[in-house]
Amino acid sequence: MRILGIETSCDETAAAVVEDGRRLLSNVVRSSMDIHVAFGGVVPEIAARSHIESIMPVIEQALRDAECVWDDIDGIAVTYGAGLGGSLLVGVLTARTLAIAKDKPLYACNHVEAHIYANFLVEASPSLSAAYHLPTTAPAFPMLGLIVSGGHSQLVLWRDHFDYTLLGQTHDDAIGEAFDKVAKILGLPYPGGPSVSKKAMEGDPQAFRFPKARMPGRYDFSFSGVKTAVLRTAQAQIGETHQFPSHKLSERLSKLQKADIAASFQRVAIETVVDKTVLAAEEFKPGSIVIGGGVAASPELRRQLAERLHASSKDSGGQVPSLIQYTDPKLMTDNGAMIATLGCYHMLKDQPLADPYTLDIAPNLSM
Ligand code: KG4
Ligand code: ZN
Repeated sequence: MRILGIETSCDETAAAVVEDGRRLLSNVVRSSMDIHVAFGGVVPEIAARSHIESIMPVIEQALRDAECVWDDIDGIAVTYGAGLGGSLLVGVLTARTLAIAKDKPLYACNHVEAHIYANFLVEASPSLSAAYHLPTTAPAFPMLGLIVSGGHSQLVLWRDHFDYTLLGQTHDDAIGEAFDKVAKILGLPYPGGPSVSKKAMEGDPQAFRFPKARMPGRYDFSFSGVKTAVLRTAQAQIGETHQFPSHKLSERLSKLQKADIAASFQRVAIETVVDKTVLAAEEFKPGSIVIGGGVAASPELRRQLAERLHASSKDSGGQVPSLIQYTDPKLMTDNGAMIATLGCYHMLKDQPLADPYTLDIAPNLSM
């Protein structure tokens, strides 16, 4: 069974073909990020226009790379939310049109849920196998999922496919958004995750003690406090008051001050999500732990989480678990493969079909 996945929720126009929910046949991602960089963030109008230009060439490339013709495709999966309205519309209208024209079943996928499904890919076609480092086994249920992206920070427990509980989420900024805002304060390029990560390598993660928010919900997060603490620290470092404008900070901060702030912020932001994931792992004793979303590409997150889960299982006298397996970082940022994989499970588990004549976008969709 082969599903074509289409993803256009933000700035990436992406399409992929996945077989049986486990085998990657193609994965084509075209980003309009180059244009957005100049604006310091994604401009929705520009993103939507570039999706229109890229969507059909990207889909055609995904079919070619998978060595598929339309007859080989059993269904179409598309992101219908969450995301930018204009961007989602391009993907959804394209998928609806293709579903009608090619007479294929259509599956409407939740972008946030799909991020976790990237972890179910355990094989790649010969032409892709060298480029993707995939785990050898699919995650086991119950599965604890940490979703950390530019728009979402959520901890979710799946008992089975499509049977899950949202344990906690952010009360304000998403973690990726906090990285992006801190990058702006430090004058580092957008997107902030990779650029803060890179800067952090030159700094001391213990240089500043930024606060970790205490939340009423056991598994909830907050990132607005640490972001404000970064701003105040940067102002204090150059001997200015709270009134000093944030956009002028970067020209006054030294290279070392920037690196120390980046490293200290990254440590605390990542610790915040790792603390809650380890806590949930201890409470729910899942069969697997998976991460997804752009921030899940972060080497610091991968390092901290593995280290803390290792320590936690030793403390409890249990075996050091092979609970956590990380997939290729390329499958963590937005892509079509995660949508195609989730689409396969929609088909395998007889989830309701979407109506190609009426499927609407859901920009604020949550888990
Ligand atoms: O999942 P994604 O591609 O798009 C959304 O659904 O939001 O995530 C994008 C986010 C951005 O905030 C970006 O700064 C962050 O993921 N990101 C990273 C890294 N790569 C991307 N954050 C930390 N470290 C990285 N290596
Ligand atoms: Zn995403």
